[in-house]
Amino acid sequence: MDTAQQSEHTIRAFKGKSFLPALTVYDYPMTRLLDELGIPMLLVGDSLGMVVLGYPDTTHVTMEEMLHHVRAAARAKPRGFLVADMPFHSYENPDQALTHATQLKEAGAKGVKLEGGQEVAPQIQAILQSGIPCVGHLGMLPQRVVEEGGYRIKGRSEQEKASLLENAELLTKLGVCALVLELVQSDLAREITHRVSIPTIGIGSGDDCDGQILVTQDLIGGFPWFRPKFVTPVMESASLLQKSVDAWRSEQSERYRKAFSPSPIVAHHRT
Ligand code: KIV
Repeated sequence: MDTAQQSEHTIRAFKGKSFLPALTVYDYPMTRLLDELGIPMLLVGDSLGMVVLGYPDTTHVTMEEMLHHVRAAARAKPRGFLVADMPFHSYENPDQALTHATQLKEAGAKGVKLEGGQEVAPQIQAILQSGIPCVGHLGMLPQRVVEEGGYRIKGRSEQEKASLLENAELLTKLGVCALVLELVQSDLAREITHRVSIPTIGIGSGDDCDGQILVTQDLIGGFPWFRPKFVTPVMESASLLQKSVDAWRSEQSERYRKAFSPSPIVAHHRT
């Protein structure tokens, strides 16, 4: 078994045993810190586009940008399952998907994640056949946000519910090792979790998935200009940074003022 297969195996083994925590990483220090903590799945997500690169959504992220950040994360040599998102338009057909998944693997990812169900089944099959582990992603698909005109909960209508259940079962059968469920109505997310034999990893899909994934910046309050409603940050790192830098600036200004303020003029009298 190579290291990618071992990681995949470890992720599958969470099913029905223990909670699977997963977080996004985009660079060396964050990957090293979270891996040292033992987070078993680290995703170089294309949320990179918003929280690091300043794009309005994930559709602008390119393959070059993903490769650059996957290489940085991989330099931390994480023991956990380092997964890379396949960016928008990088998996339009099986050949293209395989070429790009291979590049992400060569950059250091142990697995890749693709958005969608039966419409990307041939791409997933091609990648899996080459030995690269895949993670599925169903529900709200951020790469379709422009097309759909916003982020909304999926699985409220009977038709959406049936299609999500069908796709979850199909992806499991194809051989993905875990399934991200994004903004899936919580009862449905629970039902999918009971039906499939692989771990489901929820994001904004209620509490009853096998694991949870978050954009790390959301969890640590590092991107204060946008906060998803379903996240309660564990710290306020953006305001902590601003306050600490402000204190440093005041201290240094005070030191400068004392060192360089003109000395009082001493009057000299001639005798
Ligand atoms: O891009 C991303 O960060 C994701 C999420 C599931 C967190 O796909």
